[in-house]
Amino acid sequence: MIQVAVMGHGVVGSGVVEVLENHRESIAKRAKEEINIKYILDIREFPDSPYADKFTKSFDDIVNDDEVRVVAEVMGGVNPAYDFTKRCLLAGKSVVTSNKELVATKGAELLEIAKNNNVNYLFEASVGGGIPIIRPISQCLAANEFVEIAGILNGTTNFILTKMIKDNMSFEDALKMAQELGYAERNPAADVEGYDACRKIAILASLSYGKHIYPELVHTTGITKITLEDVAYASAWGGVIKLIGQVMRLDDGRLDISVEPMFISNDSQLSSVDDVFNGILVRGDATGDVVFYGKGAGKLPTASAVVADIIDCVKHLKARKYLYWADGDETLVKPYEETEFPVFIRVQADDKNAAAKKAAELFKETKTLSRNGESENEYAFTTGIMSAADQQKAVDELEKAGFSVLSRIRISDL
Ligand code: HSE
Repeated sequence: MIQVAVMGHGVVGSGVVEVLENHRESIAKRAKEEINIKYILDIREFPDSPYADKFTKSFDDIVNDDEVRVVAEVMGGVNPAYDFTKRCLLAGKSVVTSNKELVATKGAELLEIAKNNNVNYLFEASVGGGIPIIRPISQCLAANEFVEIAGILNGTTNFILTKMIKDNMSFEDALKMAQELGYAERNPAADVEGYDACRKIAILASLSYGKHIYPELVHTTGITKITLEDVAYASAWGGVIKLIGQVMRLDDGRLDISVEPMFISNDSQLSSVDDVFNGILVRGDATGDVVFYGKGAGKLPTASAVVADIIDCVKHLKARKYLYWADGDETLVKPYEETEFPVFIRVQADDKNAAAKKAAELFKETKTLSRNGESENEYAFTTGIMSAADQQKAVDELEKAGFSVLSRIRISDL
């Protein structure tokens, strides 16, 4: 029998315990060993839990117990998860996690420690919840060079945008609903400001390119400024607004990487990925496009991925799984200002003709966009491909000319 510990008894942690206990027999068959939860670490009291006898408030109980071979870190956040993970790996225990913040910020270091101590550090649940994506990229698609990875990586914001698009619901009401359903992060800013999607694309980029791409290198914009008017313009354009994490390999070897809301054409596979679902497109040079789709958040989908990693660790107690990336730096990423793409812009304009004329002077290949119920005082248009820096200069000029910019949203070619 293999003893394991679960650190954290929140949404995901309680799901991990539930899945391990409810599927005890089938998991034992797959792992070829019975798996027993010896400890559950949490600072809160759970006197009514059926597993009350397993709770401890002391991390030392876990790290000092040689019987514990695998630890699931499902606490979230960098501290104290970083310290606990490091100490477990150094003590010769494999660690599995759903903690994307920790993997995205400290992955290279923790993977190195795991390697040096001949144990595993696995994190399938850190990206895409229940969707298999880390293993497919690191194993099944390992023969490919990754040309591009792009997708909807955050369930909460996708849920909110879907409610705005399909039910005309306000941003605030949709966020509240997502939180009640247990999709949102502890701090909703992590979802709605795009930080969660940023960490996930940083992990996928690090994994596919073999060097650590730190979250601060990823240009990130969330969805808090998206309005129902923008949603209506996207629909008139022939698409929807989605929060997209994207990384592309450029000919010079650098990466073009960002997280931002984008207009996505109705013809794109990603346009119909709705609600809490995630969709991730992986473009390999040998395979072409491979698309992964499923529930990207929630207790049991995420717990399923954590438990799969526990099983994998139990099956590989003596052999390391190859999962590794080296330290990286800012030279790996092309500055966002230099990236080129078309954009949708909406301005406050008492005189639409004057706004159209000024926009055509400042931006490339402008096209007017109209929507049902359009206000008398706004003018919207799309542009041709321009660098983000040139767009910014033109936006500054537009504002100087008295047309205040209400929205600016990238148009994707996905
Ligand atoms: N808050 C995250 C999301 C949870 O909504 O996708 C899963 O990582």
